[in-house]
Amino acid sequence: MAQPVLGILTLYLSDRRGIEDKPVYEKMIEEGRRLGMNVFVFTPDDVDDVNARINAMIYKPETKSWHRKWVRFPNLIYDRCRIQRSKRFDRLLAFRRKYGHLAFLNRPLRNKWTVYRTLGKVAAFRDHLPATRLYQSADDVTGLLRKHTLVYVKPINGTGGRGILRIERLASGAYSLQGRDLNRRIVQPRRVTREQLPAAIRSWNMHGNRYIAQQGLHIKLPSGRVHDYRMLVQKNGSGEWEVTGCAGRVGPPRSITSNLHGGGEAVSMNTLLRQWIDDEDQLSQIRETAEKLGIGVARHLESTYGALCELALDLAIDRRGRVWLLEVNPKPAREVFIQAGEKETYKTAIRRPMEYALWLYGQRRAGRNKSSAGTSRTGGTGARPGTRTSPRLSSFPPLFGYDLRDSETP
Ligand SMILES: Nc1ncnc2c1ncn2[C@@H]1O[C@H](COP(=O)(O)OP(=O)(O)O)[C@@H](O)[C@H]1O
Ligand SMILES: [Mg+2]
Repeated sequence: MAQPVLGILTLYLSDRRGIEDKPVYEKMIEEGRRLGMNVFVFTPDDVDDVNARINAMIYKPETKSWHRKWVRFPNLIYDRCRIQRSKRFDRLLAFRRKYGHLAFLNRPLRNKWTVYRTLGKVAAFRDHLPATRLYQSADDVTGLLRKHTLVYVKPINGTGGRGILRIERLASGAYSLQGRDLNRRIVQPRRVTREQLPAAIRSWNMHGNRYIAQQGLHIKLPSGRVHDYRMLVQKNGSGEWEVTGCAGRVGPPRSITSNLHGGGEAVSMNTLLRQWIDDEDQLSQIRETAEKLGIGVARHLESTYGALCELALDLAIDRRGRVWLLEVNPKPAREVFIQAGEKETYKTAIRRPMEYALWLYGQRRAGRNKSSAGTSRTGGTGARPGTRTSPRLSSFPPLFGYDLRDSETP
């Protein structure tokens, strides 16, 4: 019987046609092979629409080498494309529209503001969501600062801690502003009076992006460095959501963000939690609450926006042990686990999407056999792009609109 075929969809980083995460894909391809699945990598620019074929990037584990080969469309697509400001990204959107009827493991998520509003409708999540507003004027920030001593202002499509401003109301009544610019450079703290605050907020260069203003959590450790947690939630080989792992991140000195690409360091979750919480029962309760939240959020976002196979949640846990959701990342990196010394979690994080793909393939075959009474149409090494399969399978919603957030922040 022909092997199932999984295509990992990515984007070239530039016209030089390099891709990111190659070492991760190599491991996934090896894992796929071990499971009896054929995995290749491609971008929308490798697709020949007319002849319905793909000039795929193929990895050979024996020789640890990559080569090109023309192949048919895969049975399943794992979309790893992250937001880019380029024509390539426009071509990705066109690809997703044209081939929206194919089987994707995951559909794009939305921007931070849309995701926040979607989650805010669910009572069970509300206690975990910091108060958030769409930034329309400096009043949105000063309004939040009347209630909260700390506010973060973030681009709704931002990634990696770029373009973020942190404003703290000090005991003296003055305000301290500090940030990371769009190139992720640290913007040094600056003090202003209440009267100067609106102008100081307006002077933050938003580069035409839309922003949210969000209640800030006090997550500075005794060392003065900020910290938070990265939780990876994935579908497993039985099609169920599971928490793969959760690791802590500590920002570099004088940084208002903890992102690894911004110089943050990964640490195990318990090491960090123990800095604030010394009761072991409370500690496991917090972990349980965080995990329940992670699974609940994944389920809810999937039911709202369509298929998903993994998500990473950025969580803050305050001194009292309350768990807060800072943002949801649809294209998670897994490096945090390696850096935190959690090798097994890292391996699981690589393996799970492959196991899930295989499970999904089996489900689809079973569904197709049932609905077409044994007249299987694909059979070969891949699916035909124009082929709609059983009604159940075409229930993946088509995707339109540009409120998509295909971003990831390690
Ligand atoms: N409301 C907040 N309170 C405290 N820290 C925050 C808040 N929002 C963001 N941060 C810090 O900034 C980092 C980046 O913010 P995040 O919302 O994850 O955006 P990005 O997509 O750029 O990663 C977080 O990992 C956290 O360290
Ligand atoms: Mg983040």
